[in-house]
Amino acid sequence: MTTETTPLNDILTARIARQGCITFADFMAACLYEPGLGYYTSPGRKVGAEGDFYTSITVHAAFGRVLAREIAQMWRSMGCPADFTLVECGAGNGRLACDIVDYLAEREPEMYRGLRLLLVEREPSLESAQRTMLAAHVDRLGWLSPDEFASGDFTFSGCLYSNELIDALPTHRVIMTSDGLKELYVTCTDGEFGEEPGEPSTPEIAACLKRVAVELHIGQQAEVNLNAPRWLASASKALRQGFILTIDYGYPAQELYTPRRKLGTLLCYYRHQTEENPFLRLGLQDITSHVDFTTLMTCGEELGLDTVWYGEQYRFLLSAGIIEEIEDIERTAVSDEEKLRLRLTLKKLILPDGGMGDTFKVLVQSRGVPAPGLLCQRRIGG
Ligand SMILES: C[S@@+](CC[C@H](N)C(=O)[O-])C[C@H]1O[C@@H](n2cnc3c(N)ncnc32)[C@H](O)[C@@H]1O
Repeated sequence: MTTETTPLNDILTARIARQGCITFADFMAACLYEPGLGYYTSPGRKVGAEGDFYTSITVHAAFGRVLAREIAQMWRSMGCPADFTLVECGAGNGRLACDIVDYLAEREPEMYRGLRLLLVEREPSLESAQRTMLAAHVDRLGWLSPDEFASGDFTFSGCLYSNELIDALPTHRVIMTSDGLKELYVTCTDGEFGEEPGEPSTPEIAACLKRVAVELHIGQQAEVNLNAPRWLASASKALRQGFILTIDYGYPAQELYTPRRKLGTLLCYYRHQTEENPFLRLGLQDITSHVDFTTLMTCGEELGLDTVWYGEQYRFLLSAGIIEEIEDIERTAVSDEEKLRLRLTLKKLILPDGGMGDTFKVLVQSRGVPAPGLLCQRRIGG
C-alpha cells in the first residue's frame, strides 16, 4: 500500500502542530479544496474514464436530457414565465449544464428564449472548460462564486440543481461512547495522521442528529455533514420561486445511521478504486460521504420549502421519460454499436441492482408552486 506524501502532508502537519488536532471537516476541506493542492482545486481530470470516478453525467447525455424534460415541466408548472433562471451548483466542467440546455434549445424554444444559466463552482479555473463546453449558449451564461451564491444578495426564480455536490462537502465525524457522543479529531504524530475522540467542536452536531431522531449505538461511528443544511439554507434564501433538485447518493437518516453501518459511509476514490483510509495520498484521492436526505427534507421544511418528491434515481428517470428519450435517440442512432451503448447506458443509470439506479436518490423541493404536477410525480408506466 502506497503512503505517497504530497505537499498537503507538510501543510496539515504544520497546521496541527500549531493549533492542535483539527476536526475531520477541516481536514477534508484541505484535502479537497486547499487552493492549488486540494483534490478539486488542483489540475487534472477527476470525473470519467481518465479520472477517479464516474458520475451519471459521464455515462450518457440522456441523463441531462431527462433532467431537462423535468425542468421544462417545472417551468410549465410556474405558468411558463418569460424569464427562468437555471442555477447549477458544483457544475464541474459544465457537461450536465450543456446536455440540459442543448435539450431546451432544441425542444423547448419558448422556454429557452428567456433562459439564464448560472454556474456555481468552487474551483474557479473550471470556468474556461465550462465556457468552451457551453459555447453555443454563451449569451445566456453567467457565473457566481460559492460566496456570492451564499451572500444573501443573490436571488432567482427557476430551478437550482446539483449532481454529487453534497457528498463532496466537508463532514464532521463522530463516535458514540459509553461517555456520550464524541467528535473524531485528526491528529498527527511523527508525520502519521490518525484520529482521536474529543468533545464535539459545536453543539450543532448533536442537534443535527436529534433533528432526525437518530441515536447512535455505543461504538458506532458516523458522519454529520453540517455543510449540507448550511448549503440548503443559502439555496433556500436565494430561491424566490421555483425548485431545488438535488441528486446524490445517500439514504434517509434511519437507514444512513443504522447500527449495521458501524463505521459510517466515508469513502475515498482513486483511479476507480475505492479506499477507506482518508489519510493516504492527501489531495490526490477524492473523499466523500453519503447524504442524509432526511436532514435536507426536514431543514427544507423548516426553511419554508415544500418536499415535492424524494426517491431512487431510477424511479425519477423512468417517470421523467428516460425510455422515451432513449427511443428518440435510438431513432437517430444509426450504428449497432451506438444502439448497444444506449442499452448499456440505460442499464447503468436505472437498474436497481445496487448501482447508480438505487444508491442515487433525487430530492425535489419547491417554493411558491402549489401542486406542481411534475413528471416524477406520475406513476411509473401510468
Ligand atoms: C463530485 S464533483 C461533481 C461534479 C459534477 N456535478 C458531476 O456530477 O460530474 C463536486 C463538485 O462540486 C464542487 N463544489 C464543492 N463545494 C462547492 C460549493 N460550495 N459550491 C459550488 N461548487 C462546489 C467541487 O469543486 C466539484 O467540482
